Amino acid sequence: MQNKYYIETFGCQMNVHESEKIAGMLEALGYSPAATRDDANVIVFNTCCIRDTAEQKISGNIGELKALKREDKSRIVVIAGCMTQQKGAAEALAAKFPFIDIVLGTANLYELPAKIAELKERRARHRGKVVAISYDDNPPIDESVPVARTSYPNAWVNITYGCNNFCTYCIVPYVRGRERSREPEAIIDEIRSLLAEGYKEITLLGQNVDSYGSDRSDGVGFAELLRRIAALPGKFRLRFMTSHPKDLSEEVVSIIAETPNFCKNIHLPVQAGSDRILKAMNRKYDRAAYLGLIDKIRKYMPECGLTTDIMVGFPGETEEDFLDTVDLVKRVRYQNAFTFVYSPRRGTVAATMPDQIPYAVKRDRITRLIAVQNAITEELSGEFTGKTYEVLVEDAPKPGMLCGRTDSGRLVNFAGDRSLVGQFVDIRITGNKASALYGEIVDNG
Ligand code: 5AD
Ligand code: SF4
Repeated sequence: MQNKYYIETFGCQMNVHESEKIAGMLEALGYSPAATRDDANVIVFNTCCIRDTAEQKISGNIGELKALKREDKSRIVVIAGCMTQQKGAAEALAAKFPFIDIVLGTANLYELPAKIAELKERRARHRGKVVAISYDDNPPIDESVPVARTSYPNAWVNITYGCNNFCTYCIVPYVRGRERSREPEAIIDEIRSLLAEGYKEITLLGQNVDSYGSDRSDGVGFAELLRRIAALPGKFRLRFMTSHPKDLSEEVVSIIAETPNFCKNIHLPVQAGSDRILKAMNRKYDRAAYLGLIDKIRKYMPECGLTTDIMVGFPGETEEDFLDTVDLVKRVRYQNAFTFVYSPRRGTVAATMPDQIPYAVKRDRITRLIAVQNAITEELSGEFTGKTYEVLVEDAPKPGMLCGRTDSGRLVNFAGDRSLVGQFVDIRITGNKASALYGEIVDNG
């Protein structure tokens, strides 16, 4: 067993992309990917702490590494990502799981190669582990980290890091620091070279893409960044996440509408449908403003695929507040919604609010909400049948079967050869099962 790595990723797309950077750094050190944990001599867990369920699951998984480490003591176990960055968490992890060799924070991920070198040196002198957490809220952006991409034909591109919004339930601003925007030239150069390499879809990543540039003095905001991307030649798809309803401007909506390369697909987390709860969440918009924004998007792009994040059981949420959320979901008719049970996060404002909601009530509310959304998703899915859509072939999940998405973001399954991955094909939708669409390739002769 020589020089192989295995990365286990938990959480959001930001982490998926950061794992590509971890892989890039390890490959630059001469490691190659292992098929399983057992085959690897560097095992990295890239962690998430957005909800307690995520942390529980990760702790269980880390526990499983004990046996692997016992089998081969030369193995290097690295825990990285958001979970490590909470106050006191790095020390707690190292104490609970003594076989962990390196704990690395989100702010200094780029130090991984140096920390591996330090560990090897320490081992030679029979010294222990390396804990490297930086609590700098404004760490520098390191543009030199190599990236080993794993999501062809899509390529993730960071535009911002961190978040300034401090929604009262959310741990992200505490574990990822203040919002920092990359230079527009660095972003454009990266996208230009990705397109030259053959990537067909670019997904811009940021905690709040709409506030891109507000920490910089060159006056380039999200709209201007989109204009510069729109000017790049060739056929490709552009997506971005996540938008914040308080900052998504009409200008941005109009640019998306008029640029053929930009997908008509917006993820716009609403979180709640009650003004009282939105205020307590510090979301800085109300129900009327959100619904107004949805109307605006639909005016510019009637076919736009809209998705959202919704939380139930925020402290103080009454049955009436919850019914406001259900009502909003019925009004908007989202293509899809990611629904969550509120989970108190230590250090956030909401965790200390009175009237925490009992788990049974949260469970009941999320079950009812999911049923409402599922019915909507199924109804909307039915409307696709018989129509033809351009689909970018993204993957071959099993032999002879392909999947890809419509411009509006709907996942479609169809038969075809894996050589089509990365190509645009026309698909006629033949039916659906719940939210999954099924179709067949249209032979354009
Ligand atoms: N509990 C439950 N869900 C949360 N989210 C963020 N913080 C919490 C929390 N403490 C959800 C929000 C966000 C999504 C990424 O995760 O809906 O949009
Ligand atoms: Fe969390 Fe709100 Fe920032 Fe999103 S905008 S990462 S929900 S604090």
